[in-house]
Amino acid sequence: MVEIIRAENYEELGRIAGEQILRQVEEKRDSVLGLATGGTPRGIYRYLAEKKPDLSRVRTVNLDEYLGLSGGDPRSYHYYMKEYVWEPLEIGRENRLIPDGLCPDAEEECRRYEEQIRVLGGIDLQLLGLGENGHIGFNEPGPAFVCDTHKVCLSPETRAANSRFFGSPEEVPRYALTMGIRTIMRARRILLVVSGGKKAKALQALMGGGVTPQIPVTILLLHPRVTVAADAAALGGKF
Ligand code: PGA
Repeated sequence: MVEIIRAENYEELGRIAGEQILRQVEEKRDSVLGLATGGTPRGIYRYLAEKKPDLSRVRTVNLDEYLGLSGGDPRSYHYYMKEYVWEPLEIGRENRLIPDGLCPDAEEECRRYEEQIRVLGGIDLQLLGLGENGHIGFNEPGPAFVCDTHKVCLSPETRAANSRFFGSPEEVPRYALTMGIRTIMRARRILLVVSGGKKAKALQALMGGGVTPQIPVTILLLHPRVTVAADAAALGGKF
């Protein structure tokens, strides 16, 4: 079941999605929140930082991380989380989980990450952004869905889209670790946030019906509890 909430613009999207997260934490103070990085969630984190909720018992797990970047690298997702989420929202160090971009053995790191999520009791609410190519996390379009946390070769489209944080597409790492489709689908609730006309096509594929690994976000049609919060540009005049 997909519920759609329309926001007028990016700012309102941040408020609406932020309120959804606050409600989750009110219901369960020690929620496990699956969190996303990138441009779209920034407005949500800004809104939450203004509200100053008590998140002292919340545990956070991240969707993905670039391989080859240290946590101290400003372009890593570890750094993003520290800057925009963990520190402003006062999430304790023991409650922060993210794949290690400098792990010596990617397969082992993926196994470890899945196990850590399992030990936490699974994810209560997973926040997702949407790639222009329909990816969720770094689950790129392909012939089949990949289930568990895995190493992924980033598509040229993703490297081009993310080059705005790097300077040029060549500087964007080639590989990343990402939660798999099954890891995401196991979350008890999913909140997909979508902003801007560049995402309209991928969003339309989700709302249009069929599930295909060529547009990974369409898998969400099989999840029992999905909320899509999207701004007017992403909805392209629909709703
Ligand atoms: P964005 O990224 O929020 O920076 O547009 C979304 C994504 O690629 O998942």
